[in-house]
Amino acid sequence: SEISLFRSHLLQWYDQNKRELPWRTLALTEPDVNIRTYAVWVSEIMLQQTQVATVIDYYNRWMKRWATVEKLAAATLEEVNQMWAGLGYYSRGRRLHEGAQKVVSELNGQMPKTTAGLLKQLPGVGRYTAGAIGSIALGQVTGAVDGNVIRVLCRVRAIGADSSGPTVTDALWKIADTLVDRERPGDFNQAMMELGARVCTPKSPLCSQCPIQSHCHAFRKVSIKQEIDSKRL
Ligand code: ADE
Repeated sequence: SEISLFRSHLLQWYDQNKRELPWRTLALTEPDVNIRTYAVWVSEIMLQQTQVATVIDYYNRWMKRWATVEKLAAATLEEVNQMWAGLGYYSRGRRLHEGAQKVVSELNGQMPKTTAGLLKQLPGVGRYTAGAIGSIALGQVTGAVDGNVIRVLCRVRAIGADSSGPTVTDALWKIADTLVDRERPGDFNQAMMELGARVCTPKSPLCSQCPIQSHCHAFRKVSIKQEIDSKRL
């Protein structure tokens, strides 16, 4: 079907073009679900307002110092702030620390096991971050709509309306939840992010290299328009 072709085209591209990032490798190889969830949580919080290239180093140092949620909970806020120095938006580090202390003291050291649980229990984790952690670390079949994904979905579905209001936002989350691959939700969501960052860019998108060109309504519209113009139909 159309949706299963969309998924397989996107995932095939991702398998051949993805960057090997430390949290990606860990999400696919770490057998302990609690460590996996903790690590992806740390990476997603760092990635909220910081570029991938900058985050790699901070993430690796953080995980070396605090490899588990218990270890982070036992740190002081001063140590956390010191480790965060240079990343900016220090409230992110403070919330990670608070969240770790909550997991240890109120949840028996167990990270939430569902996207809904992550959203409800962890401070600083909103709808996008919960969807990202849930799909990547827990295999939850939930969409993850960030800025890049908003742009990709608006183009795929040729949504021209302002995407900042609640109506379009709701529609985009519904589309994301429908499209997300049932077997590989984390890879699918990261493929959407990666496509938005590398191919479906804000200015001059690289449509000729796009794995989902044949599924894209915005591309179809532009192609038809060019056809009409060239032939003066
Ligand atoms: N930005 C936010 N989450 C990301 C991820 N998992 N991989 C790459 N970029 C991201």
